[in-house]
Amino acid sequence: MIEKTRIGVIGLGYVGLPIALAFAEKYEVVGFDISDEKVAQLKKSIDPSDEIDTKEFEGKNISFSATVEALASCNVYIVAVPTPVDKHKVPNLVPLKKATESVGTILKKGDTVIYESTVYPGCTEEVCVPILEHISDLKYITDFKVGYSPERINPGDKKHTLSQIVKVVSGCDQESLAKIGTLYGSIIEAGIHSASSIKVAEAAKIIENTQRDVNIALMNELAIIFDKLDISTHEVLEAAGTKWNFLKFYPGLVGGHCIGVDPYYLTYKAQQVGYDPEVILSGRRINDNTPQFISKKIIRNLLKQNKKLSECSALVKGITFKENVSDIRNSKVIDLINELKEFSIEVDVMDSRAKEQDVQREYGLELISVPKKKYEVLIIAVAHDEYVHESFDNWKGFLTDNPIIFDVRSIYKDQNLSESSIYLSL
Ligand SMILES: NC(=O)c1ccc[n+]([C@@H]2O[C@H](COP(=O)([O-])OP(=O)(O)OC[C@H]3O[C@@H](n4cnc5c(N)ncnc54)[C@H](O)[C@@H]3O)[C@@H](O)[C@H]2O)c1
Repeated sequence: MIEKTRIGVIGLGYVGLPIALAFAEKYEVVGFDISDEKVAQLKKSIDPSDEIDTKEFEGKNISFSATVEALASCNVYIVAVPTPVDKHKVPNLVPLKKATESVGTILKKGDTVIYESTVYPGCTEEVCVPILEHISDLKYITDFKVGYSPERINPGDKKHTLSQIVKVVSGCDQESLAKIGTLYGSIIEAGIHSASSIKVAEAAKIIENTQRDVNIALMNELAIIFDKLDISTHEVLEAAGTKWNFLKFYPGLVGGHCIGVDPYYLTYKAQQVGYDPEVILSGRRINDNTPQFISKKIIRNLLKQNKKLSECSALVKGITFKENVSDIRNSKVIDLINELKEFSIEVDVMDSRAKEQDVQREYGLELISVPKKKYEVLIIAVAHDEYVHESFDNWKGFLTDNPIIFDVRSIYKDQNLSESSIYLSL
């Protein structure tokens, strides 16, 4: 008799919830998360991350629980817990290890465990498998199988949704690779790419984000050079972009828990095996220093206008880590705000997507909903769609004479700004 596939998803955040709901169209799914609060919301068909609409929960064969025993009847486990770095930028594998321990307690002969969390090449088999074996008292490959399938979803992106992105799958042997490929193939319309090993699949994910990080770092470095040469980076990129093989990357703030974090997983492993990754780490440094570069440029211009910094105020539009999301974790905008405050500039912050209580809890900041005064500086820090599509005229009334406008993503570059304003961007 072929056993019915019952899937347990461990960690129901940006990655775990969409995968759980996608599988729940075809299989019985149990979603497990250690956050009681999150599970309570999910039971009411509310996604606390605001990515998934309530109607997408309708008709799905899914239950949610904060108790690991609820997973006991499952035979496939998908782990999608966070893999952050600590304050020294070293991988923090605590959530991954804890989730693996939980799976270990309910693992049975014949079960398959698939990891989706982003990790360094080797982590699944070197760190997770021994925990599974130890807790379950079962033997890897003989008794249970393991696979790795990295997630590529892009929060805020309504085009590249889970089923529309080719999924890389891998397994500990040919049998598990075939099984995992068929499983994902049943929900992914864009197709499956079978990697030759778990390590290859782990490495593939980590270099996708590392490549982006390094390319953006190059753009941020160019922005520093062109600032000194007094030419517009945007205009240079526009001109260079007319060549067929020029890659379209732009300078910007690199925050969040993927692009700014994942490269450290690779550099950690590289250093473990005796290689010092110079390009990747210098890219990280450049991107981490971009908020300071922006604040210096603003301050330099205020001083040129003979303004007293302690009498200046700035209005910042956007605090999320990137456009069109409500997620504020690891936002680089906060570094920019803190830099300006260091120079005694008063800062007010607005964001059409971030939740007030999140901003208060994470950064101790009160978001404002309408501008409170006339500001010397306007910073458009995040390119939410609603900011891109609005007219700059809406903001003119809230700015003093000769305001400084720092447009991080150059979204107002084609708008008619008043002659007296100083328009800056990266
Ligand atoms: N967010 C993205 O865009 C994205 C894209 C691709 C890959 N990833 C990777 O996917 C993984 C998950 O990221 P995310 O953004 O979904 O994180 P998240 O913070 O949105 O969600 C993770 C969830 O796991 C839960 N959790 C933590 N420890 C747990 C445990 N021991 N047992 C059960 N649940 C636990 C948390 O309560 C949370 O709800 C990370 O490795 C991340 O790098 C994220």
